[in-house]
Amino acid sequence: MTDRGDELAKLMPKVELHVHLEGSIQPETLLRLAERHDVHLPAKTVGEMQSLYQYTTFLHFLEIYQMCTHVLLTSEDFAEITYEFLQQQAEQNVRYSEVMVSLSDHLIRGVPAETVLEGVFEGQRRGERDFNTRMSILLDPGRQWPSYVTEVSKLAVQHAGNGIIGFGIGGDEANFPPDLFVEDFARVRAAGLHRTAHAGEAAGAESMWGAVRLLGAERLGHGVHAHDDPALFDYLRQHQIAIDMCPVSNVKTGAVTNIAEHPIRRYLEGGLLVTVNSDDPPMFGTSITNEYRVLHDTLGFSESELQQLSLNAVQASFLPEREKKSLRRELESGFAVPGRDTSYW
Ligand code: ADE
Ligand code: ZN
Repeated sequence: MTDRGDELAKLMPKVELHVHLEGSIQPETLLRLAERHDVHLPAKTVGEMQSLYQYTTFLHFLEIYQMCTHVLLTSEDFAEITYEFLQQQAEQNVRYSEVMVSLSDHLIRGVPAETVLEGVFEGQRRGERDFNTRMSILLDPGRQWPSYVTEVSKLAVQHAGNGIIGFGIGGDEANFPPDLFVEDFARVRAAGLHRTAHAGEAAGAESMWGAVRLLGAERLGHGVHAHDDPALFDYLRQHQIAIDMCPVSNVKTGAVTNIAEHPIRRYLEGGLLVTVNSDDPPMFGTSITNEYRVLHDTLGFSESELQQLSLNAVQASFLPEREKKSLRRELESGFAVPGRDTSYW
């Protein structure tokens, strides 16, 4: 770890588009919530939680992810984790986040949608008031439960323009292909919601094509298989369909073999609209700051390339054009530190 990479990653203003609310809960908070509700977790200390975060397969990761959601029962729990999320983002100079909520994982446990959403909205209200950062919410059900994907798509429509800006699908990509979700995406599209999908993480280029062509996804999460199919790569470049990449997550789930093999540099240089994100930060032993640091220290990204990634996230965000413009200005003025030209030191 270099001091330069470290400081740059920490200080530069950032925008994050691919981060899961439930995957952002710090282990201390998970343990506190488990104790509050007397819910069993197979870990009693932060160290034991960290042992749980070692995954043998992608599906193993999904199992641990869902298990951790069991500690969330009341609106106040959801408010608390949302508030803590915004605090974490503000501490890392993240100016704006688009946050996915795994509503299906709660519905399936019998926790009502209102409990989840009222809590998240309240945490957002308090957090945006107390910390200098903003967020928008997307509902992101797990595709391994198609009937819940449908239910969540209807809930997203109910809340369109009223707290929810978009809809996506996460979960078991390899076994639940895009054609299962055509109607759900048509429903949210008709309501004016933005659309994204995890694609090219645990399945290949075919799944990415399906997300774009069948589901009308405006952004893709992960997308590490874009280069497997030159026609796909060209299509993504021509249409500037953003790829929200999550390098550390991809190593930890086995989507790429190691960080040196990660295609993010190739994609950026090949003209794709690429952003960098943390996905499920504590669950992957990372943070958005760490992602920028890894790109600088391990993949040789320059300061201006890191700034480009941050500005790409403004462009790829689901904000209205006017808000994008003011966010872009905010970022650019944050890149330039007075008296030090455009550098941090
Ligand atoms: N849910 C939370 N994190 C996820 C990931 N990386 N892929 C698919 N679904 C997820
Ligand atoms: Zn994700």
